[in-house]
Amino acid sequence: MREMEKAAAEEFDRWAAAGRDESMARGHRDVTEQAVADWDLGPGDRILDVGCGNGWAVRMLVDRVAGVPEGGPPSGPIGTGVDISPEMIARARAATRGDPRFRFVVAPGDRLPFDDGEFSHVLSVESLYYYPDPAAALREWRRVASDGARLAVVIELYRENPGSLLWVDALDIDVHVLGTRELVEMAQAAGWREVRARQVRDRSPVRSREEFTPSRYWPDYAAYLAYREAGALVVSARG
Ligand SMILES: C[S@@+](CC[C@H](N)C(=O)[O-])C[C@H]1O[C@@H](n2cnc3c(N)ncnc32)[C@H](O)[C@@H]1O
Repeated sequence: MREMEKAAAEEFDRWAAAGRDESMARGHRDVTEQAVADWDLGPGDRILDVGCGNGWAVRMLVDRVAGVPEGGPPSGPIGTGVDISPEMIARARAATRGDPRFRFVVAPGDRLPFDDGEFSHVLSVESLYYYPDPAAALREWRRVASDGARLAVVIELYRENPGSLLWVDALDIDVHVLGTRELVEMAQAAGWREVRARQVRDRSPVRSREEFTPSRYWPDYAAYLAYREAGALVVSARG
């Protein structure tokens, strides 16, 4: 395992043990829902979430799939989640134990143990910038995606979101700070087509100055407001 992967696995194991997977899920849910709102999902689809944390987005997407026969889909799981953190995957498995619609795997996001063209939908939420080689991950996701597959990458820490850049020092592990243009070009070079980028604001209420408590991530209210104003970057594409 490479240094950034080892550091991420250890750090996110700690986050899972402290229950921080739940707050991440709450914090990322609204922008992710917007990112995948136009995905039309059916029982023949195969969904992959890379850097899935506790698997909440896989559960959310699989729950949208209607018409799955009782006893599970005939040809393997509909939703697959991958994460470098064994503790995150343990939580994801615990939440779906015995449900054949799901599979959760510990693996690095740029070396996936899956066949070419296995997935019709590929999602990644707030994960890519932790990888040693984000461009290699985008190529690997294209490899496991079928032609015509949908891609949605959701990122809150990116160059055009000034409120999130303070996290680079606040986080205990290294990250890549990527910009919109760089990400779009990376996805195109990885073989994704129709690559688009847009900024999506979380629709949950913005805290008032009185409700705001400074933290390592937002030392002052202006930083928090800047983060909410810029929103998440959603890069979408087709295989
Ligand atoms: C900020 S969390 C987001 C988790 C989840 N997507 C969510 O929204 O709640 C980032 C996740 O990426 C995972 N991760 C970091 N580096 C990774 C890598 N190289 N390969 C796969 N997963 C990785 C972490 O273990 C962590 O669960």
